[in-house]
Amino acid sequence: MPKALPDIRAAENLQGKRVLLRADLNVPVEGGRVLDIFRLRQSLETIEFLRRAGARIILVSHLGRSGATLLPVAEALSQFLPISFVPDILGARAKVARAALKNGEVLLLENLRSDPREEKNDPQFAKELASLAECFVNDAFGVSHRNHASITGVPTLLQSYAGLELQKEIAELSNALHPPSPSLCIIGGAKFETKGPLIEKFLKSYDYVFVGGAIANDVFKAQGKEVGMSRVSPERHDFLKILRNKKLLLPSDVVVVEVNGKNTLKNISDVMPSDTIMDVGPQTISTVSELLSKMKFVLWNGPLGNYEHGFVNQTEALAEAIAASGVYSVVGGGDTIAAIGKLGLESRFSFVSTGGGAMLEFLYKGTLPGLQALYEKN
Ligand code: 3PG
Repeated sequence: MPKALPDIRAAENLQGKRVLLRADLNVPVEGGRVLDIFRLRQSLETIEFLRRAGARIILVSHLGRSGATLLPVAEALSQFLPISFVPDILGARAKVARAALKNGEVLLLENLRSDPREEKNDPQFAKELASLAECFVNDAFGVSHRNHASITGVPTLLQSYAGLELQKEIAELSNALHPPSPSLCIIGGAKFETKGPLIEKFLKSYDYVFVGGAIANDVFKAQGKEVGMSRVSPERHDFLKILRNKKLLLPSDVVVVEVNGKNTLKNISDVMPSDTIMDVGPQTISTVSELLSKMKFVLWNGPLGNYEHGFVNQTEALAEAIAASGVYSVVGGGDTIAAIGKLGLESRFSFVSTGGGAMLEFLYKGTLPGLQALYEKN
């Protein structure tokens, strides 16, 4: 188990104190409207805790990668709690709004990434952010793998704590590093370079590791199987350790797009050089479902099909199967959460992580730069 994080609940007398709360409010926004409020809901517990404690909450977050406004996020959050928003971080408008903040009130500042110094982890920017408050709370698990000013810079300058969502994430994902047996890990999506080392690691600690999505194409290719025009990683990898492992499970059937544009279900051994694998097939899902019924623990990250091109069926079938199995389930990753959210199944999973890249990095390294900054400060 990693060292305990400094818990915000242990902070003394927050009444009237200005608290800089870093949350991960990075949610999909289209046409000025938030499309998915999962991360917003997960951030409420810490905000409510601070409000009840009488703190003056200065809420900060990034949104996307280009500095888009957080206004739609403020509007979405206002369904849940009274919140004010100022399209400014450190300027005169933010100063006035901050000065007017009363005990238990929440002020959301503008997207941190609208200032290029955030991503550069600029020390002066960190200093200016730190000057806004008397203490700092990191509740932004999803971005704690980034060495950014609001994640690793500010905690060096202020009394710092971990928020409730961040602590929950670390407790659940730490358990996933040492699962009770029998256990199954399901890894999908693309980018073998990121997920390959994790597969190798989990082949040691899990009883079974099922690999789907585009990364399965890399494994099939390494086995000498035909993958046609399917997406594969450009890098070369050493697959030997993985291929020889009896715990490794792969799809038995796949949905391919044929050269004529038709979608066809095929056994993996029947894939043609002109085919493109886009999803796993139903036989694969029924094999995994049967296995699930015997498991005590399942960890799942990444879709089984090409989600961007609408091949969502088997990912959704897997989500239904895990929910129905009643097995202790820890899941994460943008597309995986989207599938679960679309089906309204969030409450049927034991823990849904808010992290994508952060979840993978924590599972691989057992820590994150944002956590280290909190440990070092305390
Ligand atoms: C995420 O969506 O994974 C987090 O909010 C981090 O965002 P980033 O990948 O743009 O740093």
